[in-house]
Amino acid sequence: MTVTPSTGDGPDLSGGAWHLGAGLEGRGVIVTGAASGIGRAIAISMAAAGARVAAIDRDEPGLRSTLSELLGDGHLPVVFDLSDSSAIPQLVASLVERLGDLWALANVAAVLRRRSLDEVDDEDWDLQMDVNVKASFLLSREAGNAMVAAGGGGRIINFASMAWLTGPFLGSDAYVIGKAGIVAMTRGLARSFGPHGILVNTISPGQIDTPMQHLDNPPELSERTAAQCPLGRMGRPEEVAAVAVFLASRHASFVNGATINVSGGLVMY
Ligand SMILES: NC(=O)c1ccc[n+]([C@@H]2O[C@H](COP(=O)([O-])OP(=O)(O)OC[C@H]3O[C@@H](n4cnc5c(N)ncnc54)[C@H](O)[C@@H]3O)[C@@H](O)[C@H]2O)c1
Repeated sequence: MTVTPSTGDGPDLSGGAWHLGAGLEGRGVIVTGAASGIGRAIAISMAAAGARVAAIDRDEPGLRSTLSELLGDGHLPVVFDLSDSSAIPQLVASLVERLGDLWALANVAAVLRRRSLDEVDDEDWDLQMDVNVKASFLLSREAGNAMVAAGGGGRIINFASMAWLTGPFLGSDAYVIGKAGIVAMTRGLARSFGPHGILVNTISPGQIDTPMQHLDNPPELSERTAAQCPLGRMGRPEEVAAVAVFLASRHASFVNGATINVSGGLVMY
């Protein structure tokens, strides 16, 4: 299909009225972790905004379920294990070709293994670094370079956690060390790709009601944390997805290298 590149230069004020369109109609967007939680909500929201979504996850049934919820045509389900780093360049090249356009990448997939300090073994460390950090880095670099080559700008959205700021709780040390790395990585990529009109930002969720949130997390503790939020509740995946759509939209044309706190005020910075 022919896609008219959106400049991403900002809101369209022609005719004196704010153009409320996100500018995502027909654009190619890659979303990882699309079988569950926040990634699933982002895939659904991007499609609702008119994008064509390449939805990546290792969970095939979950991916099929997400695809059944996507509005519009041209979406691609991609069963892929992100710990397979050597296959990532080929993955991105094939998605650029199949989508025929790449406007945005959302690196949402992550794995959390709660372990006490002394229990963290090489396999726990390597898995969380490989999936949460290395795959995000390689996908960002490959997608960013493809966007540079296409010459039309683009967006990269990475995922940290509020714990990048607070430090780890409940045996999440290796995971949180990686999430702090995501913030640094985003800032570096924002400097490298910014001159090409490719904006790179991090979303830092607080307590969001997904399967990962409840992993080895006692319900009473989870409820106590929700009560500490000024809004008195956890966030919903859709509330994080809305921020991702904003960051991919024309409205975010001067947001770059930011770490967006989406915690309902559970942490404030
Ligand atoms: N839920 C929260 O409260 C919360 C808080 C802070 C940060 N986050 C971050 O938000 C993002 C989304 O988390 P979520 O809560 O939706 O998690 P989730 O567990 O519901 O979904 C994660 C998805 O990633 C996929 N995935 C994991 N390893 C993979 C691999 N090797 N290859 C391919 N896919 C893989 C899973 O299959 C799953 O579909 C993550 O980056 C997470 O760290 C979530």
